[in-house]
Amino acid sequence: MKGVILAGGLGTRLFPLTKITNKHLLPVFDRPMIYYPIQCLVNAGIDDIMIVTGGRKSGDFLSLLGNGKDFGLKHLNYTYQEGEGGIAEALGLCAHWAQGDKVAVVLGDNIIETNIKKAVEDFKAQDKGAKILLKEVHDPERFGVARMDGDRVAEIIEKPKNPATNLAVIGIYMYDGRVFDVIKTLEPSERGELEITDVNNWFIQDGSMTAEVLDGWWTDAGTFESLHGAAQLVAEAGANHIDAD
Ligand code: G1P
Repeated sequence: MKGVILAGGLGTRLFPLTKITNKHLLPVFDRPMIYYPIQCLVNAGIDDIMIVTGGRKSGDFLSLLGNGKDFGLKHLNYTYQEGEGGIAEALGLCAHWAQGDKVAVVLGDNIIETNIKKAVEDFKAQDKGAKILLKEVHDPERFGVARMDGDRVAEIIEKPKNPATNLAVIGIYMYDGRVFDVIKTLEPSERGELEITDVNNWFIQDGSMTAEVLDGWWTDAGTFESLHGAAQLVAEAGANHIDAD
C-alpha cells in the first residue's frame, strides 16, 4: 500500500503565520507539523510516500525532508498542487503514481497519538472499497461528521450546522484504486473545492466503506486554537510519542 500526505493549500485560517511559509512547515512543539503525518505512515509500515505540496515555499519541503532519512526512508516523492482546489483534487494529482494500488491518505495537519498499523492491515485484507477513521469530538460542526445506521456509516455530512452525531471523520483515509476515477466525477462544493467527503459518500453508496473508531487522541492543527492544542498534546505525551509503536 502507498501513502499520500496532503500538504498544500494556503493555510488562510492561520494568517499571518502562513503569510510567508506553508502551514505544514510550522512548528508543533519540537518539530515541523509535516513530521507527524510522515511518522504516522512509517509507523504503520508504509514507506512509499508521496507528499503533495503547494503554495508559497513549497521548495522548503525538499530542503527539510530530502529523501526522508530522518524517518528511515530511502526516498520520498513530491508533487505540486496549484491554488486551493481541495483535498480530493490534491489526491487526484497522485493518480499516475499510485498506478491502481491501494493508498492511505493523511492530511498534513492531522496528528494522532497511536499507531494506525492495525487499521492499515485490516484495509489491506479488505477486498475492495475504502476505510475511514472516526473520533468523538466536542465540536463536530468543524469537521465531516458521520451519520450512523447501527455500526455502519450511512452518510458523511461536511461541517453540519446540526450534527447527527459527535463522530468526526478524521483526516486519515484509505482507498482502493477506484478513488481516482471517483475524483474525476466530482464537482466543486460551495467553498470551491473538490471535497473528500464527496469521495467518501461515493464509497458509502457503493457499500464498500468500512469505519473504525481511533484509539487515543487526534487533533488537526489548522486553526490557532488547534495548533496551540496540538503542541500541548504532543508535549504532554512526551516528545518521542510519534516514534513509539
Ligand atoms: C477536512 C475535511 C473534513 C475532515 C477534516 C479533518 O476539513 O473536509 O471532512 O473532518 O479535514 O481534519 P478542512 O480542514 O479541509 O476544513
